[in-house]
Amino acid sequence: MTKVYIVGAGPGDLDLITVKGLKAIQQSDVILYDRLINQELLDEAKEEAELIYCGKRPDHHALTQPTINGLLCKYALQGKTVTRLKGGDPFIFGRGGEEAEALAKRNIQYEIVPGISSGVAAPAYAGIPVTHRDFSSSVAFISGVSKLGEDQADYWKSVVRSMDTLCIYMGVKKLPDICAQLIGNGCAPDKPIALVQWGTTEQQQTVAGTLENIVEKAKDIENPAMIVVGEVVKLRDQLQWFEQIALEEDPRVKQVVG
Ligand SMILES: C[S@@+](CC[C@H](N)C(=O)[O-])C[C@H]1O[C@@H](n2cnc3c(N)ncnc32)[C@H](O)[C@@H]1O
Repeated sequence: MTKVYIVGAGPGDLDLITVKGLKAIQQSDVILYDRLINQELLDEAKEEAELIYCGKRPDHHALTQPTINGLLCKYALQGKTVTRLKGGDPFIFGRGGEEAEALAKRNIQYEIVPGISSGVAAPAYAGIPVTHRDFSSSVAFISGVSKLGEDQADYWKSVVRSMDTLCIYMGVKKLPDICAQLIGNGCAPDKPIALVQWGTTEQQQTVAGTLENIVEKAKDIENPAMIVVGEVVKLRDQLQWFEQIALEEDPRVKQVVG
C-alpha cells in the first residue's frame, strides 16, 4: 500500500532520529528533504530512491509549499512510498500540517512520525532544562516571526505573564525587537537568555547573557539558532556538557560562554 511518511529528522545530531523515522527513510522510493536535516540520513535511503531537495531557507524557498504538497501527492498517486523528511518535528513550525492536509484532501494515506524538536534538543545540548521544579513549570514554543506577534497588541504581554521559559524559533534576526518587547512587557532587563546556534551538531555554539546585553553578545550568532529565555538558562553554568565534550575531543571547537 502506498503511503507518505511525514518524518521529523530531529535537530541535527544524526542519532536523534526515531527508529520509525529511520525505517521510513530506508523503505521509501522517493524522499523529499529540507535544508536543516542531517544530510547523512540520506545515506540510509535505497540506492534507487529518488532524492529531492526542497531547500527552504529564510527568505528563499527552492520549492514553494504548494509545489512540495503537489509532489507528495504526485508520487503517492504513482504508487510510490514517499518520505517527507523535515528538520526537528514536522508539526512544530515545520508546515507538516499543511502537507498532511493536502494528502488528506486527496485521500492519500499518510503517517506522521514525530521528531525531536530543536526547541527541546538545542537547550538540552546547551545544558538548559526547559522546565525545572525550582525555576520553571511552563514552557512555550513560539516563533520569532509569528503573524500573531505582529497582529495582537497584547501577545507578548500574555506570553510574559503566563510562561516561565520561552523557546523562540526563527528569532535571530528579530533579537533586538524580541528583547525590547520582553522588557517592555514586564520582564526584568537582567532576565537570563541564551542563543544556541546549530544545536546538537559539531558546530554548536551557545551565547548566554541577559535581555539587556544579549544583542551585543550574540552579534555573531546566525540562523539556525534557538533563543531560550528564562531562569533555567542559569543552570547552564553547572549543566553544560556537550560543548565541553566537543572541546575536550577537539580543542579547535569554538566555545562561547556568556
Ligand atoms: C522553520 S523552523 C523548523 C523547526 C523544526 N520543525 C523543529 O521542530 O525543530 C526553523 C527554526 O528552528 C530552529 N532550529 C532548527 N534547527 C536548529 C538547531 N539545530 N539548533 C538551533 N535551532 C534550530 C531555528 O530557530 C530555525 O530558525
